[in-house]
Amino acid sequence: MTRPALVAVDDLAKHFPLPRRGLGLRTAVRAVDGVSFAVAPGEVLGLVGESGSGKSTVGRLALRLIDPTRGRVRFEGHDITAERPRALRPLRRAMQMVFQDPYASLNPRRSVGEAIGEVLRLHRIGVRADRRERTGALLAKVGLAAADMTRMPREFSGGQRQRIAIARALAVEPRFLVADEPVSALDVSVQAGILALLRSLQEELHLAMLFISHDLSVVEVMADRVMVLYLGRVMEVGPTRTIFTAPRHPYTAGLLAAAPRLHGVRPAGVTLRDEIPSPANPPSGCVFRTRCPFAVPECATTIPAPRPLGPGHTMACLRDDLRF
Ligand SMILES: Nc1ncnc2c1ncn2[C@@H]1O[C@H](COP(=O)(O)OP(=O)(O)OP(=O)(O)O)[C@@H](O)[C@H]1O
Ligand code: SF4
Ligand SMILES: [Mg+2]
Repeated sequence: MTRPALVAVDDLAKHFPLPRRGLGLRTAVRAVDGVSFAVAPGEVLGLVGESGSGKSTVGRLALRLIDPTRGRVRFEGHDITAERPRALRPLRRAMQMVFQDPYASLNPRRSVGEAIGEVLRLHRIGVRADRRERTGALLAKVGLAAADMTRMPREFSGGQRQRIAIARALAVEPRFLVADEPVSALDVSVQAGILALLRSLQEELHLAMLFISHDLSVVEVMADRVMVLYLGRVMEVGPTRTIFTAPRHPYTAGLLAAAPRLHGVRPAGVTLRDEIPSPANPPSGCVFRTRCPFAVPECATTIPAPRPLGPGHTMACLRDDLRF
């Protein structure tokens, strides 16, 4: 990548300790294990992988909503994994999150205006009268009416509530947004409208975004680049078009083969068999080997290092003879 990074993540790991069983060794769920990536200003990086692959944990680590077991996150050059809470405050404003469930992220007893006004007050943006005006303008920006300010969250549909959550996240003028499955809880009929809104706001505000979804058809329209995660490790990363039309990692090919509703040509013949193993006890060598149709004996003993394939395209597989 040629553009300087806004967010730079280096060898990030999060191991959740499991309760000790008897006298056995203490074990942990290795939710994220050695993930590195960068997001440029105004860039959308899509993060895909099956349920349990560690996507949400990466998102929470990137905003330091949780502390890493290992590794670093730099935001505009500041190491946010080392900053004290006080020093983090101005950075928190610049990094926001939109969650899957807008029902859970809005207080049912607060009007929409109060919910957005509270965020403005917390970050000391504007004076009282000014905040009202800002809130109205924000609601208009996400396709609602300024008059909706006085209404309660329960009066809105799921899609409208997600619009409110987006308005609240954008209220503090962030430069980096983590969107964790922002349309997965919504009817398919309203998903496209929310995605179009996110994409147009992202372009208008030159927002950098980590866009998390298990749905490849959603990532295909949203992301500039795509990162594929499996058992807490990056399998492949590359420009969206490359990942969708010429994937090089067997796991990427398997995900694409299983995905419905894609625009690009779908690689045939790679079937993801069995279930994802437990991240408490991941396979040795290549973590994907127990499900990989192309595994060779070396895959059990060697952890594949990321290999550059082309501009911005990297993958972690020992075999370089595979094409899909
Ligand atoms: N607080 C926690 N304590 C213990 N284990 C956790 C915790 N949070 C996540 N995990 C485990 O870490 C792994 C990765 O979880 P994560 O939620 O990041 O996956 P995901 O890719 O977001 O999945 P999904 O698509 O279902 O949202 C899972 O095995 C999960 O059970
Ligand atoms: S390293 Fe081996 S097991 Fe892993 S994806 Fe490549 S061929 Fe499959
Ligand atoms: Mg998740």
